Amino acid sequence: MRYFIGNWKMFGIPKSINILNKINSFHSKDKNRKKYRVIITPPYTLIESYSKHFKNKKILIGSQNCYQKDQFSSNTAAVSPYMIRSVGAKYTLVGHSDNRSEGDTSKMLKRKVEFALNNNLKVVFCIGEGRSDKKNKKTFKVLKNQIIKVLEKKFYSNNIIVAYEPIWSIGTGKIPNKDELTKTITYIKKVLKNIYKKSPAVLYGGSVDGNNVEMFKQITEIDGFLIGGASKSSKKFIDIIKNYYR
Ligand code: PGA
Repeated sequence: MRYFIGNWKMFGIPKSINILNKINSFHSKDKNRKKYRVIITPPYTLIESYSKHFKNKKILIGSQNCYQKDQFSSNTAAVSPYMIRSVGAKYTLVGHSDNRSEGDTSKMLKRKVEFALNNNLKVVFCIGEGRSDKKNKKTFKVLKNQIIKVLEKKFYSNNIIVAYEPIWSIGTGKIPNKDELTKTITYIKKVLKNIYKKSPAVLYGGSVDGNNVEMFKQITEIDGFLIGGASKSSKKFIDIIKNYYR
């Protein structure tokens, strides 16, 4: 199974659903549709209405983050996995670099993963090295730490997806070269296999578009993509899928 996950970040109002309607109608007619899953993570404000709208359709709705508590609490503006699940989300991102840079620690992320799974949300756990880590050849060390500090054997591997997003690639148009990326994805899967017998799916994220997907698709170890900028346009998002299967 391949995954095309669109991360909208701080984008979208109710009528932006038109973008997803177009993606959904492409997906429902696509001859390759059984090979992949489309998940979109809109902001919290849209999860309920979008989930209802796509209830019996192909597109699945997820959340971009969740708070590290289970149900209800007295944390202002916090939204728990229980609340997210109750309005129809099926997935949540955890550990996006935007949130790590705003203070999410591995300890917090572990709690997020745990509570998300307890509430039947599948987790897309994001990892990635920064520019200086890469320069100092610390990439593998950083990635390994990010994984082993959060993911545990008790988290059922079928409910976890790992998204590798080099921070220097997010929103910049810069992407890793093919050899480098193949090695990194293989390494991530090796670390994951030390925790789980079978590695969870590993996605790539960072400046993915309809052109560069031609290179990414040659790396068969990549199980799909986490797509930011290009997921805000139905055409760009559909082009990625079309070119992937071309
Ligand atoms: P990008 O974002 O595709 O715009 O680089 C990816 C992400 O942050 O998930």
